[in-house]
Amino acid sequence: MPLLRCLNCQAEFPANSRIYTCQSCAGLLDVVYEVNEFSGERLMSVWDWRRASPKAVDQSGVWRFRELLPDADESEIITLTEGNTQIWNAPRSANYAGMNRLCFKHLGMNPTGSFKDLGMTTGITQANRLGATSVACASTGNTSASMAAYAARAGMKSFVFIPSGQIALGKLSQALDYGSTVLQLEGDFDDAMRLVREIANETPIYLLNSVNPFRLEGQKTIAFELMQQRGWQAPDRIVVPGGNLGNSSAIAKGFHELLERGVITKMPKITIIQAEGANPLYRMWQSQVETLTPVAGAFTLASAIKIGNPVSWPKAIRALRWSGGEVESVNEQEIADAKAIIGSDGIGCEPASAVTLAGIKKLTAAGTINPDEDIVALLTGHVLKDPDYTVNYHRGTLGYTSKSGEKVELASNHANAFTQVPAEREAILKALGF
Ligand code: F0G
Repeated sequence: MPLLRCLNCQAEFPANSRIYTCQSCAGLLDVVYEVNEFSGERLMSVWDWRRASPKAVDQSGVWRFRELLPDADESEIITLTEGNTQIWNAPRSANYAGMNRLCFKHLGMNPTGSFKDLGMTTGITQANRLGATSVACASTGNTSASMAAYAARAGMKSFVFIPSGQIALGKLSQALDYGSTVLQLEGDFDDAMRLVREIANETPIYLLNSVNPFRLEGQKTIAFELMQQRGWQAPDRIVVPGGNLGNSSAIAKGFHELLERGVITKMPKITIIQAEGANPLYRMWQSQVETLTPVAGAFTLASAIKIGNPVSWPKAIRALRWSGGEVESVNEQEIADAKAIIGSDGIGCEPASAVTLAGIKKLTAAGTINPDEDIVALLTGHVLKDPDYTVNYHRGTLGYTSKSGEKVELASNHANAFTQVPAEREAILKALGF
């Protein structure tokens, strides 16, 4: 039987407690399992066998790994057959970053177009087990889209708290379509996060942000699935965008559980990339201090990671220490160009995902990453989540107003501009260069 254990004071609580943080010290909680229950060998063979099974819980790229997940009867599981996302090699991106090879695992190929589905299947299943009838989250867009879909599948009411006018329309449209009640708050993500936590503590609404440890249990299966797809051979390094820092923490926990069970002998280096205007973890890591100072008024056009006060930072620090990882920070121009390069590999992603390639390029140039390393970078959201950003980049109109009121225009260094042509054969042939 798994337990909840505080990261900070080690206090333990039953897994069916309806709590999000430690009741004694307010620290973050982990779901912990008996280490010796299943050997690594046995886990690998059961998990490989299930890949060929037609059962819904085996087809899910999360529940296939259920020996290392919270207990749930099959009848209680709410799944959209999430996971099973592709790993692609990306030669143009590798070349751009100064690497000899590079792979992307595209978590944007999940049912609602982001990695959030992996955590939402376990989060909503736990809500179901606890008898919750309504759920809520604060979101920069993807969590709300995913929660709305899974809540709809479970027949639960869902409430999303989003920063007004600051989320990509693709994501907002999903939450509306899946029937969520959408509250646009006149504040930023950090305000929304603070308020939804307060409200979930005072009402029967179940909180589904990644402070909820059951969310992270689903997301940690990114490590399991990636290893399974690679025949259980670990890469040297995993590169992941950092916003609220749940995902980097979850992936590290997944690899650590494989290490404890002897499936791997060394953790891949977890490398977290943040946007320059929303980089509190990077600042903390650079200055080698013990606590995180939030970035007030965080800014980036990669709206998914526009977060100044990330909830899971203590777990992200643990991920870096466990794995000997790094944190890097990249600017708006670097993100925009990297996104276009990923597109040129025929892959595509949303802006927040492109920090990975921008960060790898920077770390390779600095000599921190060796060009021969075996790296898997995680693309977290689908290219169609934020088409405005992509179109603005390619037509040379991507920009923003800085905190000091100055208009900043980004260069479209890898633009693929479109041309207006009269609807005439001759004009078209001319435009095509014939
Ligand atoms: N990439 C995408 C596409 C995201 O949507 C997020 C987070 C991240 C990266 C960062 O992951 O927060 O675990 O460090 N989106 C959240 C949301 C905050 O509300 O959708 P993280």
